[in-house]
Amino acid sequence: MEGTSTFHLPSTDHVRYTNGVLSLDGLALDDVVAEVGSPAYVYSLDVMAAAMERARVAFAPLGGEVSYSVKANSNLAVLARMVRMGAGFDVVSGGELSRVLAVGGDPARTTFAGVGKTDEELALAVRHDVLVNIESSDECEALNRVAAALGRTVRCGIRINPGVTVDTLAPMQTGSAKAKFGVPATEARALVDAWLAGRYPRLTPVGVHMHVGSQVPEPSGVVRGCEVLLDVLEYAQQRGLEEFRRFDIGGGFPIDYGGPAVPTVEDFAAALTPLLGGRSELDVYLEPGRSIAGPAGVLVAKVLYRKHRPGQRMLVLDTGMHHLIRPALYRTDVHRILPVVHGPSAGPTVVVGPVCESTDTFSEHAELPDLVPGDLVAFMDAGAYGMVMASHYNTNRNPPEVVVENGVARVSRPREEWSSLYASEVWSQGVS
Ligand code: LLP
Repeated sequence: MEGTSTFHLPSTDHVRYTNGVLSLDGLALDDVVAEVGSPAYVYSLDVMAAAMERARVAFAPLGGEVSYSVKANSNLAVLARMVRMGAGFDVVSGGELSRVLAVGGDPARTTFAGVGKTDEELALAVRHDVLVNIESSDECEALNRVAAALGRTVRCGIRINPGVTVDTLAPMQTGSAKAKFGVPATEARALVDAWLAGRYPRLTPVGVHMHVGSQVPEPSGVVRGCEVLLDVLEYAQQRGLEEFRRFDIGGGFPIDYGGPAVPTVEDFAAALTPLLGGRSELDVYLEPGRSIAGPAGVLVAKVLYRKHRPGQRMLVLDTGMHHLIRPALYRTDVHRILPVVHGPSAGPTVVVGPVCESTDTFSEHAELPDLVPGDLVAFMDAGAYGMVMASHYNTNRNPPEVVVENGVARVSRPREEWSSLYASEVWSQGVS
């Protein structure tokens, strides 16, 4: 990084100022935009791969296997890189499973979670021998029926709601007793009993699953959740379900968005070691998404206009909540915004997008130089839950996704055309 700066740079060093210009993996982001236009998502696949490897190494002493949580970033080039690393996958819809299959992901190492799986989605999973993490006795009935119709069996885990509230943003708390996710431990034991009584002959129970939340600020909630899972697992094993050994602790590892310091994946592994270390009766799995993809990506955008408000500097960008909804959705300044060309801060700036919603505001007080129309900014840590949550609101196009590998950039997904946004709509009776 150059000189003194008021800009808070990411903790990883793949995004940095080189000769005054912000670069990712050594590629100047203004050059990337000159090629592909603005706005654009840019991801370092090498940084994602390194984060995956780091999680593997951290959990190796616990025998942990790492699956990539596809919901964080489902770009095919990202998934293909994970396939090359031999990763498993955590999917949450038929669409995500189709993406994994399209790039040659191993269905035997893919798990399907989610509170509302349709028959069509369950059938896709069953046909490909994907493990299904079930969430209710109704779902067990449905899955048993779907598998029977296909003349097959299917491996199942029980998604458990451990009744643990972690100190993250409320929308990201998924393990509290009131959350819609999983079944309470008592119901999980009842499901085990139903299996033993032969109620779901097409389902092969293999273990337990949880995900207590995302951007989890410290490991104790995960440890408490694991205690609940262990109880259910022991209950099942003691009743003779010896193959019931899968112990999937979900994802949730936090990343440094520029707020308070967050624990590392190694800290989580260390916190879990007293409980899970040396237990040969468990097969431990984890499924991180954000910590793999988040820091690896940026969203680059252009200043369209300045707006003059009493006592306020305001910039209007060519990107908004339709491309990066997290600040609007979670009502927090979650992504640092850096100028692509380095310059001294001109003071707090309100940064907004073009969408017709007041919540289309990225920051009320970004520290930015005195930018003018045409200047570029970059949103940090936008590799996870960025493009995957983009919409076409206001009939806006989605940006291209550029992936960088070995210092070489390529467009993985091109910018959409306006006409493609309505190409499949029927607007007349088509009388022939
Ligand atoms: N496994 C399950 C079952 C999950 O539900 C999730 C995330 C993950 C793994 C991956 O969690 P991660 O390691 O990425 O924290 N839209 C929000 C995040 C919602 C995550 C939901 N589940 C955001 O923009 O921050």
